[in-house]
Amino acid sequence: MHVYWAPGRVNLIGEFTDLSGGPVLPAALDLGVRIEAEAAETISLRSRELGGVTELAADGTALGGVTEGWARYVASVASELALIGRPPVGLSGEITSTLPIGAGLSSSAALEVAVGLALCSVADFPLEPMELAQAARRAEHRAVGVPCGILDQAASVLGRAGLLTLLETGSLAYEYVPLPEDIVLVIIDSGVSRQLESSGYGARQEELERAFAGLNGRDPGELTVAEVEEIAEAELIDPVAARRLRHVVSESDRVYKVARFLRKPSPANLQRLGDVFREGHESLRLDWEATTPELDLLVELAYESGVIAARMTGGGFGGAIVALAWIEEADTLADAILSAYKGRSDTQGKAYVCRASDGARKLS
Ligand code: GLA
Repeated sequence: MHVYWAPGRVNLIGEFTDLSGGPVLPAALDLGVRIEAEAAETISLRSRELGGVTELAADGTALGGVTEGWARYVASVASELALIGRPPVGLSGEITSTLPIGAGLSSSAALEVAVGLALCSVADFPLEPMELAQAARRAEHRAVGVPCGILDQAASVLGRAGLLTLLETGSLAYEYVPLPEDIVLVIIDSGVSRQLESSGYGARQEELERAFAGLNGRDPGELTVAEVEEIAEAELIDPVAARRLRHVVSESDRVYKVARFLRKPSPANLQRLGDVFREGHESLRLDWEATTPELDLLVELAYESGVIAARMTGGGFGGAIVALAWIEEADTLADAILSAYKGRSDTQGKAYVCRASDGARKLS
């Protein structure tokens, strides 16, 4: 038996920028998907958390019956890997997951990457981390038809303990930005579950495409917010498309600012970091329109409790916020946010205090 691990991710800033090749700044989490398995004739994986057993041929095709739920991801990864030449060796074993499902922490990407890693390993078919991430992303499209970006899968393979990954999703160039050792990630799940396939994700992407169509070939990565406003005023694009474009343009700028502040975490820079996170959340609320009242409330409560910075994270329309807090205050702040949230919303939140962690790998 061998053990494979792929973490979930939290994105610090750079939300939906991967839809136009912009920058993102995620951390891999210490929560993730673990697979204990060995080579076999077919793919036979069971999971207590996810519920049920997946039985597939080694190339991912169904062995009779319908492939649904999490089995769709397993089948899609196997199919994508078969297309790029993975020999048809099966996998038998057990999947466990410590990631909450629907909290926007990439439980599906972690599953895809873990399955991909295990399938490649048993078939002696090594892939570079980014090749694995890209196959896993194609598998997500195949499984649920959502045209997501590379953020989640890349964050899972590239993660490093104590570091954030500053990834240019267009060129796939990346570098690491240290997260100061005394700062931790406080993730608060709003309890309002989201699923990429049923969220407004695809609609937002179409609206953004509409904006690109009005740019007459100009590179969105080169635009400033003032230029987006000029384009909108000249009515080259409609107001909704203009807001979506303004979000990705202003958000890209925020990614570089956050990276800069974290590289020099002076008190003044951490104050600025808090402001930039707030602006990021406002942009997601007003321009991209992907927050929910629960996420807005959680961000408010987080700032009131005294965190360094807080904003919605992930695909939106439910899910979680991410906050940065001093390590010695994190648990107390998380409890304060949760109890205030309980008094003011109908759902139950849940907090996870995490550290930036290592990415997907074979553990043994
Ligand atoms: C989801 C997608 C990612 C990214 C985020 C928003 O998690 O899978 O590709 O677009 O939403 O930043």
